[in-house]
Amino acid sequence: FGGEHMDKNMEQMKRAYDRIEEMRELVQGDYYRLKYHIMPPAGLLNDPNGFIHIYGYYHLFYQFHPFDTKHGLKYWGHIRSKDLVHWEELPIALAPVEEYETHGCYSGSAVNNQGIFTLIYTGNVKDRQGNRETYQCIATSKDGIQFEKCKRNPVMRNQPQGYTRHFRDPKVWRKDGSWYMVIGAQTMQGEGRVLLFQSDHLKNWTFIGEVAGSGIGGLGYFGYMWECPDMFELGGKDVLIACPQGLQPQGDLYNNKYQCGYFVGKLDYKTGRMEHHGFTELDRGFEFYAAQTTLDEKGRRILIAWMGLPEEEEHPTIEYGWIHAMTLPRVLVREGNKICQKPIEELKVLRKNPVVYRNIMVENEEIILSNIHGDVLELLVEFEVKDAKEFGIKLRCSEDGKERTIISYSLETKKVEFNRNHSGRGYKGIRRCSVKDREIIQFHIFMDTSSVEIFLNDGEEVFTGRIYPNKSSRGIRFYAVGGKAKIRKLEKWDL
Ligand code: FRU
Repeated sequence: FGGEHMDKNMEQMKRAYDRIEEMRELVQGDYYRLKYHIMPPAGLLNDPNGFIHIYGYYHLFYQFHPFDTKHGLKYWGHIRSKDLVHWEELPIALAPVEEYETHGCYSGSAVNNQGIFTLIYTGNVKDRQGNRETYQCIATSKDGIQFEKCKRNPVMRNQPQGYTRHFRDPKVWRKDGSWYMVIGAQTMQGEGRVLLFQSDHLKNWTFIGEVAGSGIGGLGYFGYMWECPDMFELGGKDVLIACPQGLQPQGDLYNNKYQCGYFVGKLDYKTGRMEHHGFTELDRGFEFYAAQTTLDEKGRRILIAWMGLPEEEEHPTIEYGWIHAMTLPRVLVREGNKICQKPIEELKVLRKNPVVYRNIMVENEEIILSNIHGDVLELLVEFEVKDAKEFGIKLRCSEDGKERTIISYSLETKKVEFNRNHSGRGYKGIRRCSVKDREIIQFHIFMDTSSVEIFLNDGEEVFTGRIYPNKSSRGIRFYAVGGKAKIRKLEKWDL
């Protein structure tokens, strides 16, 4: 790491810090800044990167474009936390300066290599004609704060034969004394793939084979590119997370721009192939992409995702010089071939001003309960299904009820619906998902100034979305249509 490189690095970092400083006042003035979610200090945030629990801290990095609310030159922003709730901002970890990353330090992961904190990422390069080059690179740190790029970078110069330069987002893990890596890829025929590699020391990689992809392993056409793979063991089975691009909507499924979901099965480390069940979307709402997991020291598999989507950059926060955020961390639990997602326990430290209600009958009307309103809160509501055709909760209601964000359950279809057509500013739409037939429907809602995350039935499904209601729309209403529904229990906290 010669002097010249160091200067370039410092210069590139300084440009970013100057920009953040310049934007600070404007950004901080935005009502829609979130109160307990991870956001960029200014500019654009996308994928979570390098999520790891190491030296007693959870570290999270993120795709970061400090200069604009559109995608551009990507850095790795860096934060750390002891409890996954309170985060400390650290210096930028990676700035794009080397010839193998001229157009951005793209997504990747982190490992603990015998005590050496190591990042593995994609160096993105575009030539004058707009042709893409893609290099896999590593950087290491002794203190978990300053990172140094490896002199031998890139550690992988070429994708295997038969694949295009759309080859990125390495996720690395250790198994039986070896390093393994999955990478998102595309065949020359334009089909999305995840590929498996093996290495002894992280610096030389051997291609093993195709893990899964469009048109293989029982899938029909399944997208032209798969981004941001993750592979891990969960309760004795292997799980592959991937983000296929190019799926057409099918009823309630695949209605977002791009998808992020998982396969459960068994990975054959010799051939690279995974025997798997079907693809399931991780989130049933709107903004959710590029999920990444880590195993923490308590043995939990924790997931964080980007609460945003590629190519959707018209959120109202851009007027204040920033865009996007991360979802809350979720713990993954496997039940058969399904993954349930639960909000991490640690979030309970944020709870203030508890309010409890029990046994409230809601019948063909909207009801308002005293002390149940606000814009930054947690709400746990258990409805007993009776004869109402539909029941649910309207959040962020304006005084006249015209503005509202609705989460509801239909007895007829056994579906839950998340409706943000009247949520205020920003993207609109409805998302639906079937849930298991049950007598109790539980909505566990985390609401921040401009986001909602709804965990259903103890993690059976999650709906996530950004909403931009008026600051004064703070009402919450409960309703039932065509009969009765009973709120068995309701708990609310300000956060
Ligand atoms: C996914 C993605 C990745 C890439 C990164 C660039 O959102 O396109 O494939 O590494 O974002 O920021």
